[in-house]
Amino acid sequence: MEKKLQEIADKTKKNLSEIKTSTALDELYLKIFGSSGEFTTLIKSLPEVPKEKRPETGKLTNQLKQELDQAIQQKRLDLLKGQLSEKIDVTFPAILPPQGHLHIITQAIEEIVRIFEKIGFNLRHYREVEWDWYAFESLNMPQNHPARDDFETFYIDSPPSPKYGQVVLSPHTSSGQVREMENVKTPPIRMTNIAKCYRPNWDLTHTPMFHQFEGLVVDRRINITHLKGTLDYFAREFFGPDRLTRLRPFHFQFTEPSFEVDINCGICLGSGKLESGKNCRFCKSGWLELGGAGMVHPNVLKAGKIDPMIYTGFAFGWGVERAYMMKSGTKLDDIRLLYGNDIRFLDQF
Ligand code: FA5
Repeated sequence: MEKKLQEIADKTKKNLSEIKTSTALDELYLKIFGSSGEFTTLIKSLPEVPKEKRPETGKLTNQLKQELDQAIQQKRLDLLKGQLSEKIDVTFPAILPPQGHLHIITQAIEEIVRIFEKIGFNLRHYREVEWDWYAFESLNMPQNHPARDDFETFYIDSPPSPKYGQVVLSPHTSSGQVREMENVKTPPIRMTNIAKCYRPNWDLTHTPMFHQFEGLVVDRRINITHLKGTLDYFAREFFGPDRLTRLRPFHFQFTEPSFEVDINCGICLGSGKLESGKNCRFCKSGWLELGGAGMVHPNVLKAGKIDPMIYTGFAFGWGVERAYMMKSGTKLDDIRLLYGNDIRFLDQF
């Protein structure tokens, strides 16, 4: 037994010198001193040693066990020292935690705010949950207007107000027009209202929640050239000097005359065709609708307690998401990607 103990001790010391990691050291320890380790198993047979030899064998066993324990402890310290001197370098650049950034629509909103701030527009965020009066009635929209249908607007299931009607999720930022007139009371008014809007739509160019920005200017002698100048200024600042806009006659209840403002598509640049020869699936015709605009209807001024014989105004309301998608180089052909919350997609912007 003494011979065997000595062999195990010699072999273990040799193996120790080759060990490079603390995991390997743990494994070696278990192999020798674990419950079925080589040393442990041999000690269990100590009672079989003849009685007269037993004290001597016991003494050797203790001595070898102590030596091996010490050698293993020493190795553990050496490995630790090696790790410390290799890995801790206080001058080494730290591994930074991943950093996020503002959502692209928040970035777009900030850019739009800056553009209108430069020409003196006051920023407002009017309500997402609104009375029918501000969303429709005060905007000269009759009871039977299609936009008031529950296919087009989310109605909140709560008791209507005798004065303001039902509660809706605001379908457009135009709901802020009369609120701004009530707040300012006496023109001049120059506001941008940027807010969330809701409509029950879901396809390549529509989401149920989206953002609009509304411009409203009311003052003495405001005319259509002020509207055109403001739209052109915004298009140049936001989309770049190369992009084209056009006005199409249109109808809105709350503006007269009214227009639809279009911009040439940022994906096919107005041709309606892609390089592959296929039709552009985002615009189909080369032009994209940015939103509506027009001269504020006298009935809306009256609803805001402003005299239409003294004051005139213009208004426009565009979708932030669509405006962002029409920026050159964005090449986004499905609005729903913006709200899919796929970090791999959002990280690119
Ligand atoms: C309006 O909402 C009018 N209030 C705009 C207006 C304001 C006209 C002031 C005159 C004066 P329209 O329904 O066309 O208009 O919507 C305006 C823009 O909002 C659209 O061109 C589009 O860019 C965006 N939009 C509308 N619905 C959605 C939707 N479901 N998802 C994403 N964007 C939308």
